[in-house]
Amino acid sequence: MASLVFYLSATVLLAQSTVAFNCSKQPIYVDIHKRAVHDSPVFQYGSFIGLGTPAQNQSLWPSLAQNHTSFASKDYCKNNTTLKDCNKSTGGFFNNEDSTSFVEIQNFQTLDQAQDKLSGFFGQDTLRLYTHYFETDGASQTLLVNSTIEVADEGSIIPGRVGMGSSSTVLRDLAARDMIAGKTYSLYIGQGFDRAGGSVNGSNVFGGYDSGRFTGVPHKYPMNIANVNPMSVRIKDIVISSSNDNANVSLFDNTVFTDMKSRPADFEAQITTEQFPISFPYQITKNFMDRLGAEQDNTWGDNSLKLKNAFNGTLSIVLEDGFTITLPSEVLMNASNITPIQSRDEKSIDPFYLGAAFLGQVYLMADYETNNFFLAPAVQKNNMVMPQTFCPKSTPLAYVRPQQSSWQKQGLIGAVVGGVIGGLGIIAASCCIWITWMRRKDERRLKRELKKNSQMKMEQMDIEEAPTFDPPPTSMNAAKAMFWRKNKPGMTF
Ligand SMILES: *[C@@H]1O[C@H](CO)[C@@H](O)[C@H](O)[C@H]1NC(C)=O
Ligand SMILES: *[C@@H]1O[C@H](CO)[C@@H](O)[C@H](O)[C@H]1NC(C)=O
Ligand SMILES: *[C@@H]1O[C@H](CO)[C@@H](O)[C@H](O)[C@H]1NC(C)=O
Ligand SMILES: *[C@@H]1O[C@H](CO)[C@@H](O)[C@H](O)[C@H]1NC(C)=O
Ligand SMILES: *[C@@H]1O[C@H](CO)[C@@H](O)[C@H](O)[C@H]1NC(C)=O
Ligand SMILES: *[C@@H]1O[C@H](CO)[C@@H](O)[C@H](O)[C@H]1NC(C)=O
Ligand SMILES: *[C@@H]1O[C@H](CO)[C@@H](O)[C@H](O)[C@H]1NC(C)=O
Ligand SMILES: *[C@@H]1O[C@H](CO)[C@@H](O)[C@H](O)[C@H]1NC(C)=O
Ligand SMILES: *[C@@H]1O[C@H](CO)[C@@H](O)[C@H](O)[C@H]1NC(C)=O
Ligand SMILES: *[C@@H]1O[C@H](CO)[C@@H](O)[C@H](O)[C@H]1NC(C)=O
Ligand SMILES: *[C@@H]1O[C@H](CO)[C@@H](O)[C@H](O)[C@H]1NC(C)=O
Repeated sequence: MASLVFYLSATVLLAQSTVAFNCSKQPIYVDIHKRAVHDSPVFQYGSFIGLGTPAQNQSLWPSLAQNHTSFASKDYCKNNTTLKDCNKSTGGFFNNEDSTSFVEIQNFQTLDQAQDKLSGFFGQDTLRLYTHYFETDGASQTLLVNSTIEVADEGSIIPGRVGMGSSSTVLRDLAARDMIAGKTYSLYIGQGFDRAGGSVNGSNVFGGYDSGRFTGVPHKYPMNIANVNPMSVRIKDIVISSSNDNANVSLFDNTVFTDMKSRPADFEAQITTEQFPISFPYQITKNFMDRLGAEQDNTWGDNSLKLKNAFNGTLSIVLEDGFTITLPSEVLMNASNITPIQSRDEKSIDPFYLGAAFLGQVYLMADYETNNFFLAPAVQKNNMVMPQTFCPKSTPLAYVRPQQSSWQKQGLIGAVVGGVIGGLGIIAASCCIWITWMRRKDERRLKRELKKNSQMKMEQMDIEEAPTFDPPPTSMNAAKAMFWRKNKPGMTF
């Protein structure tokens, strides 16, 4: 069967003459969640990536603007930084003196010219992209040797970023070294970090996408690579819906907000991970404040507005093409009445942003070969991960969920079915045969993996008195976590 699928996909490939890209390359999946990081006693949220030899493990936050992947030097927090809670906010630390593979590059010209301030030095070292499928399984690593990285000594910008800007060195190197199909990348940022207050974890897929992470046909948008944030969309409406009386109010409606002479024009907003909140034009923000009784607040240091009175409802953002993204009530207002909408100065000329609060609701798939990107509703709590090759120029396909299958009922959290599809280079044309085949194969494999996983969980409970994910906030626990890691490579996370 595999050969038939291969044959079919090869035929499609030839027909489309996408010969420049090898779309049978498996993508590289790197998950995003909280974990122990180098030189910090605190679990931190980010992409599971290590640097150097031996590995200094980090949790790197994906940046859609920064082109370099950056790390905090061991002295970053001692060196006059403005970063709040510095020693638990950098995603780890990197000491180049401890890495035998590190080579400093003198006088390197940064690709991040537009960036405010991140001063340090450049070098080459081995990046370790960890792929971690099952909670209880060890991680496998993809080595990206001699990768150009930035080590920050100080700065007004937070280091500890996977640089996924339009000149991303990681993506460039992976593609140039034929390790992925092309310069494609997908992101689900998740909500398992403190500001979002949720528990759903995220993922990066280099050269691919996770077909289990979104639903429907993805919506396509052109990038604007002249922008530092190359991905932006136009917003034509924003609707607040109250769960109590079912009323819907458009923040663009000049019959409701009578200080507007006419309905405002649609506006462009840039997608970014550099901030959590969403920033709208002044008038729209004002309407939001008027409608919900919101006021200035800076609890999180990001000027998110706070409601005077609790509001049980949602906010829907309608894009130019009609794609509507709804912030559910728990996102629109958290337990302390704090919203993900940023206050805005009337005179501000800053761009409008769709921050991580927005990305918690959508799956982002970027094709840097054609400078297009896709958005689709994210499957928040997916029970499986299915990384697939994102062939440049193609449109990602959502996984079609089998009805009522045994594994769905099981509701396993964080389980991953990896490499099942990857490597086959399957394309829509062979879809029908393929889906039937995949369903059967998947279910078989899933059953197998589930069985294995449940056994491993049991085994683990026999051995460990603490669960794997128990964060070690004290140095004593951290030492214990290290100890397990050394002795049980199969139980790292
Ligand atoms: C494409 O990638 C696959 C998997 O890595 C490899 O087996 C195959 O030889 C590659 N094809 C070409 C034309 O490079
Ligand atoms: C996310 O990862 C953390 C580990 O950092 C784990 O405790 C949590 O259960 C995961 N959340 C989900 C929804 O899988
Ligand atoms: C602070 O940063 C500068 C570079 O900006 C570096 O030369 C210096 O060594 C750093 N100091 C410490 C204590 O790390
Ligand atoms: C620390 O940073 C502040 C603000 O950037 C600057 O004014 C001050 O001179 C710096 N101090 C040192 C010792 O570098
Ligand atoms: C983190 O920084 C604070 C303030 O500088 C310091 O008191 C604390 O000991 C540091 N924690 C660690 C684990 O280094
Ligand atoms: C990253 O590279 C792109 C394209 O060269 C550039 O437009 C963008 O400004 C760079 N990012 C930063 C933070 O400078
Ligand atoms: C870094 O993570 C990898 C993959 O889980 C693990 O094998 C390695 O032991 C970790 N290194 C340290 C120093 O924790
Ligand atoms: C990496 O760099 C080292 C020294 O700079 C060089 O000896 C080695 O051949 C390089 N490896 C690759 C795969 O480029
Ligand atoms: C809401 O934000 C506040 C910030 O003060 C935080 O303390 C609280 O834990 C958050 N609640 C939830 C449910 O995330
Ligand atoms: C919010 O509204 C929904 C739908 O009407 C309802 O199920 C839920 O209980 C309400 N929550 C609160 C806190 O009022
Ligand atoms: C508000 O919008 C929702 C969803 O489109 C719809 O179900 C509901 O009927 C609307 N409410 C009113 C009062 O029109």
